[in-house]
Formats: sequence, structure tokens, C-alpha cells
Amino acid sequence: MKRYILAITGASGSIFGVRLTEELLKVSKVHLVISSNTFPIIKDETGIDWTDKSQKSEKTEDRIRKYFKTERLFFYEDKQMDAPIASGSFKTDGMLVVPCSMKTLSGIANGYANNLIERAADVVIKEGRHLLLSPREMPFSAIHLENMLKLARLGVKIAPPVPAFYHQPKNLDDIVNFIVGKILDSFGIEHSLFKRWGS
Ligand SMILES: Cc1cc2nc3c(=O)[nH]c(=O)nc-3n(C[C@H](O)[C@H](O)[C@H](O)COP(=O)(O)O)c2cc1C
Repeated sequence: MKRYILAITGASGSIFGVRLTEELLKVSKVHLVISSNTFPIIKDETGIDWTDKSQKSEKTEDRIRKYFKTERLFFYEDKQMDAPIASGSFKTDGMLVVPCSMKTLSGIANGYANNLIERAADVVIKEGRHLLLSPREMPFSAIHLENMLKLARLGVKIAPPVPAFYHQPKNLDDIVNFIVGKILDSFGIEHSLFKRWGS
């Protein structure tokens, strides 16, 4: 079974990361890192509260596994620098950062490796594995664009969550499915999330 690293960072659009987790779990194991800045954004934008401390003994990983109803998911905090995915010797089929904040984009583009997400991406780049970032900001500054260009030239897929309308979306779900489907296409992962042009 394939094994992917997925990071959800503190850009708007956490719904893309949550939906992508669901889809990846259908076909693979997922090593998930959610940056500490992201939990309040997930709660605000989707209503999902993975920081709920009412069940004191329950770990965040257990809460997230319960949500996705799976044992295939492994969760790490972004400060957990000794996680398996921090080492190139732990083999994976690639990494996706969805959505990707401008701060994490910068950290990855400059090899800063200051948290588990930046370190795991650094490892994926040095090992020559697949890396996809879905940077979300509006508008992009020249700094953001330069960071993206630098990474694109290294073979990193830059896939911002830009919707299309040729598949005639009727609601937000259709738009989210289109973006997530395009991301899965980039990794050659089969899905039926949207109707393809010409099909
Ligand atoms: C509600 C909210 C929305 C945000 N949206 C974005 C965004 O779309 N893009 C971005 O680059 N930063 C955004 N930020 C700022 C990032 O969360 C911030 O730069 C943070 O340090 C990113 O850290 P991380 O990449 O480790 O998650 C947002 C912050 C908040 C509170």
C-alpha cells in the first residue's frame, strides 16, 4: 500500500486538506501533520474541533482517527521533529501540503526545516520524491511568486486551489471536489470527484 505525507497548514481553505485526507485514506496510508496554527482555522472554517479537551485522556491523534474512522492514519504535531517522516530513510511515495501558507512555502523554498512540515518537505526534495504544494493567498506578492518559481524549477508541483467552471459546479462541494481531484491527478491517483472535459 502507498504511503503519503500530508500537511495541512494555516492558510485559508482547510476544507481542501480535510477532503484530501478522506480521499487519500481510500487508497493509501496517510502520515498527517497539522501545524499548530491550523487547528483554530479548521474549527472556524469547517466546524471540526480536533482540539476539544473535554475528553481529557483522548489524544489528538485518536480524535482525528475517530473522525476519519481509520487505522491507516498516523498523526504528528509540527513540533515532533523525531517523527519517522523527518528522516529520508523512512520511505514514502511523496508529500502534499494542502493548503500551504506563505510562511510554510517560504520555509520549504529556503530549506529552513524549522518544524516537522518543513523538515519532511526538505527530506522529500533531497530524496527526489514527489512534492506538491497548494499555496493559498490573494494576491500573491513577488516574494511568494519567487518562492513558488524556485520550487517549481526543482520539480515541485505548485497547485494553488484555483477553481474552474467548465465542469459547471452547482455548489461549494463541487468546487472542493474539483480542486482535490486535480491534486490527486497530479499524483496519478484514481478518483471520480468530477466529470472530465470530453468524457
Ligand atoms: C483565519 C486565518 C486565515 C489565514 N489565511 C491565510 C492564507 O490564506 N494564506 C497564508 O499564507 N496565511 C494565512 N494566514 C496566516 C497564517 O496562518 C500564518 O502566517 C501562520 O504563521 C502560518 O503558519 P503555518 O504555515 O505553520 O501553519 C491566516 C491566518 C488566519 C488566522
